[in-house]
Amino acid sequence: MKKPVRVAVTGAAGNIGYALLFRIAAGEMLGKDQPVILQLLEIPVEKAQQALKGVAMELDDCAFPLLTDMVLTDDPKVAFKDANFCLLVGSKPRGPGMERADLLKDNGKIFIGQGQAIDAVAADDCQIAVVGNPCNTNCMIAAAQAKRLSRSRFTAMVRLDQNRAATQLAKKAGVAVTDVSDIYIYGNHSPTMFADFTHAKIKGKPAAAAINDEAWLKNEFLPRVGKRGAEIIAARGLSSAASAANALIDHVRDLNKPGAVHSVAVESDGFYGFAKGVWAGVPVKTTEPGSYQILTGNQMEEFAKSKLAATNEELVGERETVKELLA
Ligand code: NAD
Ligand code: LMR
Repeated sequence: MKKPVRVAVTGAAGNIGYALLFRIAAGEMLGKDQPVILQLLEIPVEKAQQALKGVAMELDDCAFPLLTDMVLTDDPKVAFKDANFCLLVGSKPRGPGMERADLLKDNGKIFIGQGQAIDAVAADDCQIAVVGNPCNTNCMIAAAQAKRLSRSRFTAMVRLDQNRAATQLAKKAGVAVTDVSDIYIYGNHSPTMFADFTHAKIKGKPAAAAINDEAWLKNEFLPRVGKRGAEIIAARGLSSAASAANALIDHVRDLNKPGAVHSVAVESDGFYGFAKGVWAGVPVKTTEPGSYQILTGNQMEEFAKSKLAATNEELVGERETVKELLA
């Protein structure tokens, strides 16, 4: 049996937490032979701590063979102690009529303290994945606190957008989702994101040719993927949770599967024209567990370049809004 790894999850009693923890404990994220210790953080409020206890009771009641221990806490330094993975979910979701950037004021500051605590106490090999919105900029805020850990260990999740895009292309083409490949997300997890249909493939051939409807790709596909979160909120009255948890499982699993190519928001070094230092979605290839190579070789047409510029502009604007949180 392998040595257990420590997985810290914030906002563990929330909606995403409820859809996520059971799948981690079942081995769907790190493998069916990898025992885990769940270190669960919730806010220091009686109701949240009670709810967290209830979730832990349910985890116990599943008798998961891989779940070797659980830690329940309201203290980030306890939650992140020796953690090999820190999944930063805990934060406010948006409601109807809001954009994710509207959450910056409330959520941004959470990631200062959590970034500091992670840098102080997490394991040297810790991988940090930010889900709480607006996740790109929150990730930048957390990473700004890293002195010991490399900023490359801090990633934000755009995998839900990749999964959404793959399904929309499959539906339009009337093929299985497994027939769609090479669809990657660039930029912000927001309506400005660019779901790059120009390099996507269907059954190994260019998706644009298979779909043969440029107007649909530009005017329906892109906004549908970009605004899918709002569409879910309008329908459910709550933001996506099961699909977000599923995407986080995919995100972490693929970051630990050498050879996997997938969309992740990482720190820009200027790739694809993104401003240095913002966290932008981009295709990466996992090289070894937790490490990746940013794939910079895709040639972009004028249309794609204009989309990349727009999402970059938004990321730069968000950075400006939170500049006092980056010190
Ligand atoms: P939720 O309100 O159901 O749960 C959030 C939980 O976080 C709550 O239990 C709350 O008590 C806890 N929390 C708040 N502040 C905390 C803190 N400082 N430390 C620890 N816990 C804290 O929300 P949810 O539906 O689970 O969504 C969580 C976040 O994920 C939201 O910001 C949402 O917008 C975001 N989200 C991102 C994506 C993505 O693709 N990146 C997808 C879906 C949701
Ligand atoms: C999503 O994309 O579903 C999440 O980011 C939640 C939201 O606010 O849209």
